[in-house]
Amino acid sequence: MTQVIALASVKGTGGVTSSALGLAAALGMRFDALVLEADPSGGSLLGWCPTLDPTAGGLYEAAFERERPGLSPFVQSLGDIGVVVAQGEPYRIAAALERPRGWRSLLDGITDHVVVDLGRLFPGTQALGVAAVADRLLLVAPPEAGPLAATAEWIGRGGQHAATGTRIESSRIGLLTADTGGDRRQRIDPQRLGEELGVEHVGHLPFDGATLEKVCRGASLAHRSMRRSRLAPALSAVAERVTVASTSKARR
Ligand SMILES: Nc1ncnc2c1ncn2[C@@H]1O[C@H](COP(=O)(O)OP(=O)(O)O)[C@@H](O)[C@H]1O
Ligand SMILES: [Mg+2]
Repeated sequence: MTQVIALASVKGTGGVTSSALGLAAALGMRFDALVLEADPSGGSLLGWCPTLDPTAGGLYEAAFERERPGLSPFVQSLGDIGVVVAQGEPYRIAAALERPRGWRSLLDGITDHVVVDLGRLFPGTQALGVAAVADRLLLVAPPEAGPLAATAEWIGRGGQHAATGTRIESSRIGLLTADTGGDRRQRIDPQRLGEELGVEHVGHLPFDGATLEKVCRGASLAHRSMRRSRLAPALSAVAERVTVASTSKARR
């Protein structure tokens, strides 16, 4: 059974794509793992990772391809992990996210873990449908009062913007804090906020662009060049926490 972990932000300087890539890399040390770009505002990884092929297709093609159905033909490899990019016009990404046949069937069985980058959860985002079928939804926020308050408010209403909309139970939501280089004053303790909201604070990712760049170049988090990385152990700890015991199938 594939574990689907969706990452998204509500407010603040995000760090969603970086955290999704890093979490997939941490899971990739022990399992088969894939990062799926599904941010309606467009993907980032083609711009960040020099070995990814912009002509290989991605999210949109996987959603609508008839001759080669499924996600597998669009998975590119990046070090330990697989990557499915989102490219092209935002309307194409939105259309793919509204795939009529649903998303869960496309993700099940493809790898042990799929980490989905849903970007910013703006009102009415098509990404909510994918968030609703994920096993876990990790909301990424800087450890600052404003973004944490907005994230708390979102969790409180289960992401609902209208009475009839999709509602996500707090039991599936986790809070992941990340330092993306902005104001790093920690005015709210995310651990305590998580307890207050009844969601788990799954960890904190320190600011470490060098590690992210190595991952983009295909380096494993287990590589010796990562020995001094601050981010690698933090990512492994998050991976450990969000990994459901029943899905831990030994890789080899
Ligand atoms: N842990 C981190 N350490 C260093 N830089 C980071 C970290 N997380 C994000 N960044 C940087 O912050 C910027 C925004 O991050 P990104 O992951 O693209 O956010 P989002 O996907 O939410 O827009 C990027 O330039 C990225 O390199
Ligand atoms: Mg992004």
